[in-house]
Amino acid sequence: MVKVAILGYGTVGSGVAQVLCQNKDAIARSVGDEVQVKYILDVRDFDQSPYGGTFVKDFSVIEEDPEVSAVVETIGGATVALNFTQRALSAGKHVVTSNKELVACHGLELTRLAQEKGVCYLFEASVGGGIPIIRPLTMCLAANQIEEVCGILNGTTNYILTRMIGAGLSFEAALKEAQENGYAERDPSADILGYDACRKICILADLSFGKNVDPQLVPTEGITGITLADVDYADGAGKKIKLLGRALRQPDGRVCAYVAPHLVDGSHPLAGVEDVFNAVLVKGDAVGEVMFYGPGAGKLPTASAVVADVMDIARSKGARPPITWEQGDDQTLCGTDELASRFYVRVQAGADALRTHVGEIKLLARSGAAAGETAGITEQAMTEQQLRSKLEGMEVLSLIRVLN
Ligand code: HSE
Repeated sequence: MVKVAILGYGTVGSGVAQVLCQNKDAIARSVGDEVQVKYILDVRDFDQSPYGGTFVKDFSVIEEDPEVSAVVETIGGATVALNFTQRALSAGKHVVTSNKELVACHGLELTRLAQEKGVCYLFEASVGGGIPIIRPLTMCLAANQIEEVCGILNGTTNYILTRMIGAGLSFEAALKEAQENGYAERDPSADILGYDACRKICILADLSFGKNVDPQLVPTEGITGITLADVDYADGAGKKIKLLGRALRQPDGRVCAYVAPHLVDGSHPLAGVEDVFNAVLVKGDAVGEVMFYGPGAGKLPTASAVVADVMDIARSKGARPPITWEQGDDQTLCGTDELASRFYVRVQAGADALRTHVGEIKLLARSGAAAGETAGITEQAMTEQQLRSKLEGMEVLSLIRVLN
């Protein structure tokens, strides 16, 4: 019997308990042993829960119980969760997590601690919710030199953009729906300001390029500046606005990583990714392009990935290859300013003035456009700094990168 402890009985933690219970027999068949929840740690009381007898409030009960071989950390954040993870690994217990903040900020030290202690630290659920991406990237695509990873990595913002466009909901109403569905972070500013997507692209970049990418060094822009006017202009050009996390290998080996809204052509595979779904596009030198698609957030989809990690550990008795990467340095990253793109621009000026400033531009139209407003997509690819210096003296209302 494999005995596990779940830390945090929130959306994901309760989903993990549910999946382990409802699929108990199939899991035992696949693992060759029963997987049982021995403890659930939470500061709250859950008197009505079917797991009533398993709740504890003191982590040392779990830490000191030699019967617990694996700990599932679904607390979130990088304070208490970091402390409990370090203590669990140090006590020789495997740790599985869905906590992208912890993996993005402390993954390198935690994977090293796990290796040192001869245990596993697995985090399939930290990126893309229920989408298998960490294992495919580190195993199935391991023969490739990865050139780019690009994805819709936050379910809440994709849900908000989809509901605003499709159902005409206000930003606030769409966010409320996402919160009610359990997609959003406890503090949803991490979703809408792009920090959650930033943590996920950092994890994918760590694994794709083998060097630690510090989230604090990755330029990050969310969706709070996107207006219905921009969505309308994009629609008129056959494009969708999507919040993308991107990490690209530059010819000199450095990595350009960032999070920002993009105009994505309607024919691009990422354009059709709606609602809470996420997708990750990986470009490898041997495989070409592959895309992973599925539910990017939510109780059971995320629990699906967490439980699969627990099963992997139980099946291999912890003898699976470690997932880790190297320390980065000041040569790991390059700025987004080295990345030339075409841009969508909306200004408070006439078309002639805009053309005089930026050169050739494909003008866009929308019904009900405000007087004196002009929007278009530059014909030339250029860096953001080049574009901003061309636009000097103009009232710029929006500037959004166009995905090549
Ligand atoms: N808040 C996250 C999202 C949850 O909306 O994608 C999954 O990481």
